[in-house]
Amino acid sequence: MNTAFWSTKKVLLTGHTGFKGSWLSLWLQQAGAKLCGIALPPNTQPNLFELAQVVEGMQSHFVDIRDAAAVKKIMDTFKPEIVIHMAAQPLVRYSYDFPVETYATNVMGTVHVLEAARHCDSVRVVVNVTTDKCYENREWVWGYRENEPMGGHDPYSNSKGCSELVTSAYRNSFYHKAGKGLASARAGNVIGGGDWALDRLVPDIINSIIHKQPVAVRNPTAIRPWQHVLEPLSGYLLLAEKLWDNPKHYAEGWNFGPHVHDAVNVGIVVEKILAQWGSDHAGSKHESQQGAPHEANYLKLDITKAQAELHWQPRLTLDMTLQWLVEWYHAWMRKEDMKVFTLKQIEQYQNKAGV
Ligand SMILES: NC(=O)c1ccc[n+]([C@@H]2O[C@H](COP(=O)([O-])OP(=O)(O)OC[C@H]3O[C@@H](n4cnc5c(N)ncnc54)[C@H](O)[C@@H]3O)[C@@H](O)[C@H]2O)c1
Repeated sequence: MNTAFWSTKKVLLTGHTGFKGSWLSLWLQQAGAKLCGIALPPNTQPNLFELAQVVEGMQSHFVDIRDAAAVKKIMDTFKPEIVIHMAAQPLVRYSYDFPVETYATNVMGTVHVLEAARHCDSVRVVVNVTTDKCYENREWVWGYRENEPMGGHDPYSNSKGCSELVTSAYRNSFYHKAGKGLASARAGNVIGGGDWALDRLVPDIINSIIHKQPVAVRNPTAIRPWQHVLEPLSGYLLLAEKLWDNPKHYAEGWNFGPHVHDAVNVGIVVEKILAQWGSDHAGSKHESQQGAPHEANYLKLDITKAQAELHWQPRLTLDMTLQWLVEWYHAWMRKEDMKVFTLKQIEQYQNKAGV
């Protein structure tokens, strides 16, 4: 990130209490940005937001983005220059149980944020964070490119495809004419320290290790574009910087994923994490579930466009990502100051050249 750029900016971040939002809040605080967050209170225990005392360096509002008037009020009062929209119901399995809530948050919540931002004169740039799952999944081995159709088999993936379509309509109908830059960012499967969300691979592994249980692996052959949480965040920040200077040119969808060889299957990631952890664990076991909801088997992103036009590059290999992840949870288990530790990893990341 360009620290000099961010040190003078007013940034509204939705989803600041979540896994990615807590990392991004710390990064923006470290750069000196004036930061305001909108999200629900953290819903896991433990959580990075509280562990790293993220709230200390920002304005924080516990507001539901399904409440359009409340979102507008904060936008109009804070008057941000840049909006990064990450608040969402982000879980595939939960979305099967609560589809209405998932669509309300991910689709209408996005409408509320984009609507408030378009009427707020101070806003010059908006980045909407969606996902690699927004594409119509064809179960093929190639990475999806930005110009491929939106889709989504399950309510979560589909709601993010809808969020992309909303972004496109708002851009064409309002943002272009107003000279505001509006882009969307599609990242891969994000991993790193500080994630405790339900039904996600890394939190499941950490919980199994702590409880001395073998790690139950549901879909060992499913291939995902794994990346450290700081990788897509660096892409969102770079995209916002580019939009600031050239709001029309960069106002499109962008993929931020790992290099092709780092999109590997779940079984490999589990074995690599256990190997990095050391000997103090009970191994893993394949646990097939009868009647489990559909999850895609192949999912890869083509990042050529971000490499060519934004000059963005992944900076960590999969092995480094897993090493940083294990080091983070080891530090947490040693009861280290996790704000200091997380900021140290952010600094390490910034000092790294691309791989
Ligand atoms: N973690 C991943 O692997 C991954 C991959 C691709 C995209 N994403 C996207 O990145 C974003 C952040 O994901 P995360 O992994 O940090 O998830 P998370 O669950 O840790 O955080 C979600 C955030 O959204 C907020 N939120 C949820 N519902 C809300 C509502 N109704 N009103 C206000 N705030 C609400 C939560 O309070 C929290 O701050 C999401 O948009 C997600 O879809 C995540």
